Amino acid sequence: MRQLLNARDYREAARRRLPRSLFEYIDRGTEDELALSVLRRSLDAIQLMPRMLTGHAERDLKTLVLGQQTAMLVIIAPTALAGLVSHGGEVKLARAAARANIPVCISTQSVTTIEEVRDGAPGALVWFQLYMWKDRNLSRQLLERVAASGVTTLVLTVDTPVIPRREYNVRNGFSIPLRYTVRAGVDVMMHPRWMFGVLLRYLTTTGMPTYGHYPKEFAARLSGLRSRTR
Ligand SMILES: Cc1cc2nc3c(=O)[nH]c(=O)nc-3n(C[C@H](O)[C@H](O)[C@H](O)COP(=O)(O)O)c2cc1C
Repeated sequence: MRQLLNARDYREAARRRLPRSLFEYIDRGTEDELALSVLRRSLDAIQLMPRMLTGHAERDLKTLVLGQQTAMLVIIAPTALAGLVSHGGEVKLARAAARANIPVCISTQSVTTIEEVRDGAPGALVWFQLYMWKDRNLSRQLLERVAASGVTTLVLTVDTPVIPRREYNVRNGFSIPLRYTVRAGVDVMMHPRWMFGVLLRYLTTTGMPTYGHYPKEFAARLSGLRSRTR
């Protein structure tokens, strides 16, 4: 197996493993994708200033985030459909976060529900990210569920007031619920490790993977919104 030593290696491994429609959903930007390169440049412009001869033999990145002690100032950001990348992906992320002693933020649009994440990753510092639904009552019910599962930190996303325009999602026919099309079928079959390791594992256990927290009555409406996925 190829060694995965940096983010570029992981990206390349993901490109080979995942169906193209899923990879592009994760990898690409919106509209003409200008913000992607601006973001890349702004991240590259950050420089770390090393401090020498300070008398500290041991490095210690421990800090408090929103009153919670963490090993370092790194938080696993909410990513919709992480459970499509790997079977039970959100639980795996939460277990990794628990090992690293950092918070993990579970998305409203996760495949695995917040309760399953809590049960599958004891000891993890789990946060929840909310996309507010038009039906405030449904959002309230979701938040009550989240609170009942023991989560006390809420991240409210406010920068998606409209559905992002992602043309490749439309071209690839990528939408939730996943749809059966010839193109999607060929895409999946060309990535057998994903087909057997993720899709068929869901299909033979819990059924077609979808947004775990969305109420049933949303399912029909979602299917028309091809670019709803962030
Ligand atoms: C594939 C993908 C899915 C995402 N899903 C969500 C989401 O469900 N909720 C949310 O608030 N942010 C979501 N985000 C935004 C990330 O949490 C994060 O804020 C964003 O990627 C910026 O961080 P970065 O520069 O480290 O990528 C998503 C980002 C990506 C790339």
